[in-house]
Amino acid sequence: MDARQMKIKAAAAALEHVEDGMRLGIGTGSTAEEFVRLLAEKVANGFRIQGVPTSERTARLCLELGIPLKSLDELPELDLTIDGADEVDPQLRLIKGGGGALLREKIVASASSRMIVIADETKVVEVLGAFKLPIEVNTFGLVATRIAVEKLAARHGLSGEIVVRGSGDGPFMTDGGHLILDASFGRIPDADALARDLNAIPGVVEHGLFIGIASLAIIAGPNGARVLGA
Ligand code: A5P
Repeated sequence: MDARQMKIKAAAAALEHVEDGMRLGIGTGSTAEEFVRLLAEKVANGFRIQGVPTSERTARLCLELGIPLKSLDELPELDLTIDGADEVDPQLRLIKGGGGALLREKIVASASSRMIVIADETKVVEVLGAFKLPIEVNTFGLVATRIAVEKLAARHGLSGEIVVRGSGDGPFMTDGGHLILDASFGRIPDADALARDLNAIPGVVEHGLFIGIASLAIIAGPNGARVLGA
């Protein structure tokens, strides 16, 4: 089974949790896109859901494939969000934001009664941090915010480069018009404390540590899908 087939397997297993009539948060990234394609087939056959996308990219794909969308303001309380992740630990703590959509992803998932993560085995880790932690920051005061993040990281015993994410010739801009700092911490021994302390830095809009948000993870490997957190 190749990587794409594993993503499809996880997405298909997640689709079984989606019920007719649900208000559904729809994630961002290559795994979430496999879910969108499968969901679109069901919708074409008469299945009714109302989707809230977590990015402009996901919104475009859903509209192309005929999935009905609402904004989060129109549907502020959701039944379920299904989304990918960059890392998942045994406590269902996540790193997200590799695709740059972490702010909307966190807002949408937090407005949902449940969040199911879909991922392949390569995303499962004992300790978060091998994936660069995305930190969404305001453009104003970028340098000051980066210094504040560096000082905070040092207090947590973390080192490693913290760089502004690029895209083409310039910086990557999020859907909300912010920048992303990618922090190569390597290993984050106390993710809960780091998450809390990052949120206390004024220039930090949000970060990619999702703690206490996911209710279940469907992990696909070469021999099928397994569930974490059931
Ligand atoms: C998007 O911002 C991310 O949080 C994605 O959910 C995450 O990067 C997983 O993406 P893939 O499914 O493409 O690995």
